[in-house]
Amino acid sequence: MGRTMRTPIIAGNWKLNKTVSEAVALTSELKKLVVGTEGVEIVVAPPFTALEAVSNSINDSNILLAAQDVYWEDSGAYTGEVSAPLLIDVGCDYVIIGHSERRQYFGETNDTVNQKVKSALSHNLKPIICVGELLEEREAGRTENIIKDHVAGGTAGLTGEALLSCVIAYEPVWAIGTGKTATPEQAQEVHHFIRNLLSESFSDGVASQVRIQYGGSVKPENAAELMAQPDVDGALVGGASLQAESFAQIVENTV
Ligand code: 13P
Repeated sequence: MGRTMRTPIIAGNWKLNKTVSEAVALTSELKKLVVGTEGVEIVVAPPFTALEAVSNSINDSNILLAAQDVYWEDSGAYTGEVSAPLLIDVGCDYVIIGHSERRQYFGETNDTVNQKVKSALSHNLKPIICVGELLEEREAGRTENIIKDHVAGGTAGLTGEALLSCVIAYEPVWAIGTGKTATPEQAQEVHHFIRNLLSESFSDGVASQVRIQYGGSVKPENAAELMAQPDVDGALVGGASLQAESFAQIVENTV
């Protein structure tokens, strides 16, 4: 089964950027630029503080909403945390889990990623599970080991059916915010490797339906050649998602 059965997904990870008014201004502009665009899922991931306002702003559009993290308990004495039911309550469809910045700076591990994935799924919030190697890991020839560890750890204990609600985002850490994009061949090689891992752990049928996004310095200029790769089903965009025009251009270059 080929790529045609997988709808590409372009998601903008705004990271720690945008006040509420800036967020609404960005989505208002973006809405106009992508109105009527079909054949691609368009997702924005504002910071927690802007989720509700952005949710209201995109209500009448073809843009979906994601959060940038989630905690695995539903409620209780967990100061500072936000749970899947609360994200559903403000209209989130997706949640980014295990981003490399969370792994690097906030102690995220494969085990916490897995708990978050399971909690999100149990509330019908779709996880975007991030995986990716550091530069030194790539240079030491350990890319496949790291990817295997992240994919197996993040998806441990899931059924094939549950996996169909997940998106995997391959983000080589050396390509994030550096302007150094993986070449289309480098991206395809790892995406293909991930799909094979999913075939082995789940089934060929499930693996052929799961979307695998590429992230790391995706720009309007390099989006089309990355998206043309057979196992690249979209992009997780950081910097270039902070402006409506460049993000919309990436969306256009995907369809
Ligand atoms: P950049 O597009 O800024 O490299 O960030 C990628 C990323 O981390 C998306 O989650």
